[in-house]
Amino acid sequence: MKKLLVLFLVLVTSVVFAGDKSAEYVGSKKCKICHSKAEVGSQYGIWSKGPHAKSLETLKTDASKAIAKKMGIKVAPEKAPECLVCHVTGWGSASGYQIEVDPLDKKAVKKNKALAGVGCESCHGAGSLYKSKKKMIAITAGEIKGETLGLTTIKAETCTVCHNPDSPTYKPFDYAVRVKEVAHPAPKK
Ligand code: HEC
Ligand code: HEC
Ligand code: HEC
Ligand code: HEC
Repeated sequence: MKKLLVLFLVLVTSVVFAGDKSAEYVGSKKCKICHSKAEVGSQYGIWSKGPHAKSLETLKTDASKAIAKKMGIKVAPEKAPECLVCHVTGWGSASGYQIEVDPLDKKAVKKNKALAGVGCESCHGAGSLYKSKKKMIAITAGEIKGETLGLTTIKAETCTVCHNPDSPTYKPFDYAVRVKEVAHPAPKK
């Protein structure tokens, strides 16, 4: 009996943790499918015109090259982990942005492109588990807690992983003010 109970507990915990582990980055294009229309709030369009979508491009500018040179970084900033950590989606994760992908693997190339820049999942969390329509509606309705499927409850700390003095161009970050500059609310129902 005791052995069975132990086995049961092991199974339960492994299921719970497996759920946590398997949340993977999918790229902003996957969110675009459902979050583009004006009726839902045009989140994709608002994001793509905002500062975060172009943050990998920013690393290719002369300003970035100058910063990297001053810091003694030997490679191009858009290939430097020291910069990519805050300028792409899911840096450091196996399912996140990669410096190199096999150019013949079309799927991987496409996904990596959708992880370039600070994407939806940089703030909302890796999307593989919550991105289905059924789950999204259940989360919004309060039937499932988003966090159990990797959807972040956004707060100041979500931003200050990047908006902090480790940024070579750091500007003081007041969450309440800055969050308004990147807002993309759904229209009131
Ligand atoms: C298959 C369609 C679909 C996809 C793909 C999808 N969503 Fe959603 N999402 C929805 C729907 C539907 C809702 C609920 C809208 C409502 O009822 O107001 C929602 C709600 C949300 C919410 C609000 C949740 C809450 O707590 O109220 C967030 C945040 C969100 N989605 C982010 C994302 C992100 C980020 C991605 C990509 C990783 C994504 N969604 C992909 C359909 C989708
Ligand atoms: C993964 C890192 C990352 C996260 C998380 C992040 N940001 Fe950013 N943010 C950046 C980068 C990088 C830029 C600069 C983009 C550029 O100019 O190319 C930026 C730019 C901005 C800007 C434009 C003004 C400026 O300072 O240049 C605002 C506003 C902003 N972020 C707000 C937020 C808010 C609010 C959150 C949290 C809800 C957040 N960010 C989360 C990396 C991040
Ligand atoms: C810089 C961080 C950041 C990025 C990048 C970002 N969001 Fe958000 N998003 C927020 C914040 C902050 C809120 C409002 C607080 C909340 O709902 O948690 C929000 C709210 C939402 C909501 C709920 C709107 C509502 O009023 O119910 C949806 C849906 C959403 N985001 C989808 C997306 C999609 C899709 C993308 C990518 C195209 C994206 N977000 C990119 C920070 C971000
Ligand atoms: C700790 C996170 C972080 C790191 C590491 C980082 N950045 Fe950024 N970067 C940001 C954020 C956040 C912004 C938005 C402005 C700020 O710093 O408040 C930004 C903005 C920029 C800008 C736009 C300038 C501006 O005033 O808006 C440039 C250029 C830039 N970064 C280059 C780099 C280069 C080059 C590296 C690597 C040497 C790098 N960044 C490393 C977070 C980071």
